[in-house]
Amino acid sequence: MTEFAHRVEQVSISGIRKVFEAAGEDAINLGLGQPDFPTPAHAREAAIEAIETGRTDAYTSNKGTLAVREAIAGRYDADYGQAVDPEDVIVTAGGSEALHIALQAHVDPGDEVLFPDPGFVSYDALTHIAGGTPKPLPLREDLTLDPATVEAAITDDTAVFVVNSPANPTGAVQSEADVREFARIADEHDVLCLTDEVYERIVFDGVHRSPFEFAESDNVVVVSACSKTYSMTGWRLGWVVASNRRIERMLRVHQYGQACASAPAQYAAEAALTGPQDCVEEMVSAFENRRDVVLDGLTDAGLEVPTPQGAFYAMPKVPDGWCDEVIDRGVVVVPGEAFGANGAGYARLSYATGMDELEEALEIMREATRALSR
Ligand SMILES: Cc1ncc(COP(=O)(O)O)c(C=O)c1O
Repeated sequence: MTEFAHRVEQVSISGIRKVFEAAGEDAINLGLGQPDFPTPAHAREAAIEAIETGRTDAYTSNKGTLAVREAIAGRYDADYGQAVDPEDVIVTAGGSEALHIALQAHVDPGDEVLFPDPGFVSYDALTHIAGGTPKPLPLREDLTLDPATVEAAITDDTAVFVVNSPANPTGAVQSEADVREFARIADEHDVLCLTDEVYERIVFDGVHRSPFEFAESDNVVVVSACSKTYSMTGWRLGWVVASNRRIERMLRVHQYGQACASAPAQYAAEAALTGPQDCVEEMVSAFENRRDVVLDGLTDAGLEVPTPQGAFYAMPKVPDGWCDEVIDRGVVVVPGEAFGANGAGYARLSYATGMDELEEALEIMREATRALSR
């Protein structure tokens, strides 16, 4: 018998790809989920030096080199005042693998996983791959996730709820009060809060807080990565931080699926995390300027758009046929339904693209909106 596994048959290739394929070659691409900045030179150089001196020829420890785990642990101390033991960190192939091992280690067939809808596409797919049952949750009008919605959706079968702040595809940042509530819910209901913080450093308004800071139990697993913060999506370098018993379970999945994260990427990450951080500040300030331009442009076009407070996405409410109209005119945007059923009637725009292209794209969106309202 060569039938495919039911878990995998339930997953389809991301709707985002389909949009790219539909767009012309010289289209302005506002569909991409990665920064348009180079990886910092000191990170690249650290990888080159490690390669040239032969330090990347062998497997590293399964969890990652001690030096990069110390660098990651050091950031939690510096950014959140949280002491993290480097033994409680696993370095992974991007935030993607981190989410995968967290769900594999905590979800049994039939267990429910709650996550935001619209939300990052991996939560639904990885839940299926773990044999679990996806439970998408609607968002508030401002596109944040209401802790009360999470609490009301918890059943005896709930294993995990996912929090993602700042969020893809909405750019929404959860308030400290919400984050404290997520921590309380994880403690009181004894369910795991999987907090996806890959955009943690890209915040314009307010401050990023983590449920990890507030939980009294060990029911929080933190996922983050160098991908967005240091424009290192191609390096594939992320991590999980959790209590030792949870790390030991996730390590079983990581060890057999991955052995260790790529060694050159680990050296680059160590340099990125411990080196000068002004490159991050410059990138965030460029994103903030663009966010303001996008917000003004969309509002001028007559679209309603909740103010994104972080990441590099905006999610306006759009009329029927808007995405097709915009894509036909040469600007790639992603229809909201690619991020879940509740994304219908929205579009995701990424502003990880130069200001000139962005302004041109906004003009095209204005024309497309006008054409539709005629
Ligand atoms: C919310 C969110 N989590 C995780 C990831 C995965 O990141 P990585 O490239 O580190 O695997 C992404 C990538 O777009 C994302 O948007």
